Amino acid sequence: MPEARQILVTSALPYANGSIHLGHMLEYIQTDIWVRFQKQRGNQCVYVCADDAHGSAIMLRAEKEGITPEQLIAGVQAEHSADFADFLVDFDNFHSTHAEENRALATAIYLKLRDAGHIATRSVTQYFDPDKGMFLADRFIKGTCPKCGAEDQYGDNCEKCGATYEPTELKEPRSAISGATPVLKDSKHFFFKLPDFEAMLKQWTRSGTLQDAVANKIAEWLDGGLQEWDISRDAPYFGFEIPDEPGKYFYVWLDAPIGYMASFKNLCARRPELDFDAFWNKDSSAELYHFIGKDIVNFHTLFWPAMLEGAGYRKPTQVCVHGYLTVNGQKMSKSRGTFIKARTYLDHLNPEYLRYYYASKLSRGVDDLDLNLEDFVQKVNSDLVGKVVNIASRCAGFVHKLNGGLLPSREFTEQQLLKVSESHGWSSERILGTESFKRTINIEVGRAYESRDFGRAMREIMRWADVANNFIAVTEPWKLAKEGKKEEALAVCAEGINWFRLLVILLKPVLPKLAAAAEEFLNVAPLTWDDHAELLANHQLNPFTPLMTRIEPAKIDAMIEASKEDLAAQSTEAAAPQGNGELVKEPLAAEIDFDAFAAVDLRIALIEKAEFVEGADKLLRLTLDIGDAKRNVFSGIKSAYPDPSQLEGRLTLYVANLAPRKMKFGMSEGMVLAAGPGGEEIFLLSPDAGAKPGQRVH
Ligand code: 2FM
Ligand code: ZN
Repeated sequence: MPEARQILVTSALPYANGSIHLGHMLEYIQTDIWVRFQKQRGNQCVYVCADDAHGSAIMLRAEKEGITPEQLIAGVQAEHSADFADFLVDFDNFHSTHAEENRALATAIYLKLRDAGHIATRSVTQYFDPDKGMFLADRFIKGTCPKCGAEDQYGDNCEKCGATYEPTELKEPRSAISGATPVLKDSKHFFFKLPDFEAMLKQWTRSGTLQDAVANKIAEWLDGGLQEWDISRDAPYFGFEIPDEPGKYFYVWLDAPIGYMASFKNLCARRPELDFDAFWNKDSSAELYHFIGKDIVNFHTLFWPAMLEGAGYRKPTQVCVHGYLTVNGQKMSKSRGTFIKARTYLDHLNPEYLRYYYASKLSRGVDDLDLNLEDFVQKVNSDLVGKVVNIASRCAGFVHKLNGGLLPSREFTEQQLLKVSESHGWSSERILGTESFKRTINIEVGRAYESRDFGRAMREIMRWADVANNFIAVTEPWKLAKEGKKEEALAVCAEGINWFRLLVILLKPVLPKLAAAAEEFLNVAPLTWDDHAELLANHQLNPFTPLMTRIEPAKIDAMIEASKEDLAAQSTEAAAPQGNGELVKEPLAAEIDFDAFAAVDLRIALIEKAEFVEGADKLLRLTLDIGDAKRNVFSGIKSAYPDPSQLEGRLTLYVANLAPRKMKFGMSEGMVLAAGPGGEEIFLLSPDAGAKPGQRVH
């Protein structure tokens, strides 16, 4: 027996200010499959993650919601944890970067870097919001593009003409937080001297740690010369204060990857068999894998290994990079309903469908992966339900009917096997059966899993599922049973059930829930990889219950509609200033000219009817009288008006010329106006007494 490997695995830490969506899930599912495979092989594999809880975006969002950052990140962590658990992503630990372990490690690493001379300081001139009293990151500055004159562009690039520039080049700059005109101000910043590590990085990035495409990209950066990295931010900031430097904080990307270590450290306190140093010491023999998306490669392949080297820790064994998710060939889109949150998916579909679909399309490359919803339905139904589960359901009935559920030992004639072989168009000397299947397991499928070529693993598994189904089709156990050839029929079924069991062993990293249900039916202990060496014989089965049902296309439509509904609810919230009773300043939107304002047709509307919408969590259906016509509007205000009848007879303000939106429940024609932070605090706007339905608002 080769010695068990010690493997620590991470996925990128999700930001603690937003929901998990199917794009995120690609990475967590990819990592989880690899981790489950390693565990099933008997390796000591540990999978840690955490919420990425620091930074100004989180600080500002908490402020907007009228809560503390700690409250915000606690709520998000609970939501993220539930999403991951329900997608069967089995972290050994899901921690937070805003934790004591992380503070201690980030501080210690910084001090080691500083004491070794890898930290520099110098003054930086930056835009400062005088109203808000804070320096502005590029994305919090808006203005007119210096190249093409497009208005309302961010501080570092223009979405219209693609130009990149310094925020100071923007014309008419303004703070996206308060709307104030920013002023230039100097401040001392701390820099990590990345160029000190150039030689090490040139060697490390070419030592099998990266996919070729990634290593080539990094080589371009390395050849272009490395820059020092600004690792400090000024107060107010939500993060850890830099030791000996009051008012200066670590930039969120400094302590985020250290969060991998901190999460592991936190786990070590609960799991005595895990030794933190054994995994992180410079000469550690444990392996360390980071799974990430291609947008954050520089942080993980330049800054992070350099920080680890400078602070005397080991470096990653591999950084495994994947591409982006597209849906139906396009970027995920809120208005098309293809920006699908993890929870919205889970409300409609079985997580294992998506786990299998992603697995079937993942390779070790960095190409984008397309979730084509038609192909998704077709592939899952045909492969999992039509092929894999079908084998068990075709055989189980006979074993129960003919033999009380007792699986006999496998006995089938060479003749039968040859018949299958021929029907498959394979050379007749090839003996097809569970014996030869067993031999390929370690070699083909095991290797494909290990190298993260899950698509190849799934193709190989489905090829064998075809063979198994073919075997059953050709040997026709139903005919044998009818002809009274009970022993022969049972022999075929024993072969079939063993095929099924082997397929389940191979699919278990992808389909842990289906595997657990299959183990129950097979009446066996949790299947390990090595269990493939033995086959079941003279073994009592439990009754068969359906292991997986087909995807109904209507469920996909419902999920898309619900994603559009999420958007409708969000836009009601976004239209309202946020706060906790107190008035919190909302970032001012870009200035518009009078014509743009006049283009909005605002009317007085009478709410004739307000009612719940069956199947919608957040919406009310409003029937509006706008003078000369009636309008149907779905509005995300249900949380504030649990008794919708209280709205009936009220006047409100209505955007009459908003393009209608098709929703599952019908067409939404326009929008009513409300204020407030959301939840129970949404306040529908009303005109003074005397206003009449249909009157235009000026
Ligand atoms: O890009 C992101 O979503 C970051 N929150 C990832 C952090 S990964 C790690 F370095 F912490
Ligand atoms: Zn431009």
